[in-house]
Amino acid sequence: MSAALYRRSNASDAETLFELTAKSVSELSPAFYSAEVVETWMAGRSPETYRDDCANEAVTIAEINDKPAGFSHAVPGEVVRLFVDVKYTGFGIGAELMRRALRDALPTGSGLVKIDATLNAAPFYRKWGFTEVGRSVFPNRGPKLPVIDTIVVEQIFD
Ligand SMILES: CC(C)(COP(=O)(O)OP(=O)(O)OC[C@H]1O[C@@H](n2cnc3c(N)ncnc32)[C@H](O)[C@@H]1OP(=O)(O)O)[C@@H](O)C(=O)NCCC(=O)NCCS
Repeated sequence: MSAALYRRSNASDAETLFELTAKSVSELSPAFYSAEVVETWMAGRSPETYRDDCANEAVTIAEINDKPAGFSHAVPGEVVRLFVDVKYTGFGIGAELMRRALRDALPTGSGLVKIDATLNAAPFYRKWGFTEVGRSVFPNRGPKLPVIDTIVVEQIFD
């Protein structure tokens, strides 16, 4: 496999984020969430959900042979999203996306970083030294959709 290349997003990456997220959810989440949650996970989302963040170059995209393989998005104090295409997991792409996300999460090089992690991703973040501080649910789901349980993890970087 060719080495992954990493670059900042632009507006046209919104479809990629939507598709990679939907694919990851359908392939990795069924072992951790009910069928009802998995089936409705992307309800109310579209590429537009991700457009502004992509246009603002806030997202890091990993590519292999010019094809998207994963992405991460962080803001100061929080890693917001990190997904790797299932067919490219296990090759270190998640680790490199995490390193880059932490740079964005820690603009001064130190401080608290929080992640609202899916149940399937929480062990990955524990490996990075994050510890569970509570349970939560993803916001903005509305009353008609089943909640998506998450594990809130945090770490203080000196
Ligand atoms: C978790 C995820 C990012 C890992 O990506 P990846 O490219 O396979 O990770 P890497 O190959 O870089 O692995 C880095 C290390 O983490 C470990 N790791 C990877 N996935 C793991 C998991 N689910 N649980 C525990 N450890 C994991 C690897 O074994 C590796 O360890 P090593 O350094 O000792 O070899 C990827 O599986 C994914 O996108 N999952 C869905 C993410 C998700 O739900 N995100 C939403 C919440 S923000």
